[in-house]
Amino acid sequence: DKGEYRHFMLKEIYEQPEAITQTLAGTLGDDHVLTALLGPEAETRLADIEHVHIVACGTSFHAGLVARYWIEAQVGITCQVEVASEYRYRTVVVPKNTLLITISQSGETADTLAALRFAKDQGYLATLALCNVAGSSLVREANWRLLTHAGPEIGVASTKAFTTQLVALLWLTTALIQARGGDKQQIITNINALKSLPGMVEQALQLDTRIAELAERFANKHHALFLGRGTHFPIAMEGALKLKEISYIHAEAYAAGELKHGPLALVDENMPVVSVAPSGSLLEKLKSNLEEVRARGGQLITFACERVEHAEEGTAQTITLPWVEDCISPILYTIPLQLLSYHVALVKGTDVDKPRNLAKSVTVE
Ligand code: F6R
Repeated sequence: DKGEYRHFMLKEIYEQPEAITQTLAGTLGDDHVLTALLGPEAETRLADIEHVHIVACGTSFHAGLVARYWIEAQVGITCQVEVASEYRYRTVVVPKNTLLITISQSGETADTLAALRFAKDQGYLATLALCNVAGSSLVREANWRLLTHAGPEIGVASTKAFTTQLVALLWLTTALIQARGGDKQQIITNINALKSLPGMVEQALQLDTRIAELAERFANKHHALFLGRGTHFPIAMEGALKLKEISYIHAEAYAAGELKHGPLALVDENMPVVSVAPSGSLLEKLKSNLEEVRARGGQLITFACERVEHAEEGTAQTITLPWVEDCISPILYTIPLQLLSYHVALVKGTDVDKPRNLAKSVTVE
């Protein structure tokens, strides 16, 4: 039931504060995370994990890409992320004590499930399914499970399933730091940031009207570029995927530093460039990348932290979000990109909840 909402997608975007709250229920103490939900075997073996491989498809793959930044920076162990349809058909080198994480909203995606089955004989320390459906094939066949509690997702474009996957992955990152006796301050920072997240997402949702106005600019556009750096690069990828999927506008994401290595040639007044530019050490660099876009007449739409000064010139528009800790920033900046693709789809009059050619659960290969 869509209730008061025009589409399931919009309803699911608005359900995110609650979905995040449900996913975190009973998992956080004041200065430690509660790992019992992983089961007794996982709890005792977390400290042995020295490498992580993450395998998934589509939006779930993007969640994995964000987790790589967290795991390598905060836990200090290597993390590799790959799409399931590639992983399952190649020769994979698995170092000793590697955890395989498969991520899937549905737990029935054919390639992800096949990847898990393939991994069974590859000598992993264990396999973990991160999933939104407790009774799914993926959860049944993995050694360990970590469930998101987003509730059923009806809209084909994944929204609340993605943000809750990120929440679970930041929680797991924190559990790994804790198991290895790592940085206590980082654990507390992550916990407090996660606790603040539902309220921050509420605030981001208030940008709805502003973003709906911006969406008009896309009505007659055929292409768009999305830029980000660091943990926000996969968020730019997710923003581009969402726009393609439901508005049929061709969109591509680039790590902002790659712009001058090719895609800058595409930029003119017909190319909206959406950038995800929160505060942080990478912002200054991103700013100079954005100057290059502006100088070429590109229409710039920047999502940035309210604490950072951004000049509004010509066609450039900046939409600000509240300041948050770096660790949850990629989750927060997902919200305006979801709203943007939703409103562009409305302007274009496409079938938001059931985009052409796509299925909610891809059970064929
Ligand atoms: C995009 C989207 C898809 C899915 C992909 C994997 O909005 O929903 O890209 O993320 O088909 O699906 P799951 O997560 O069910 O394995």
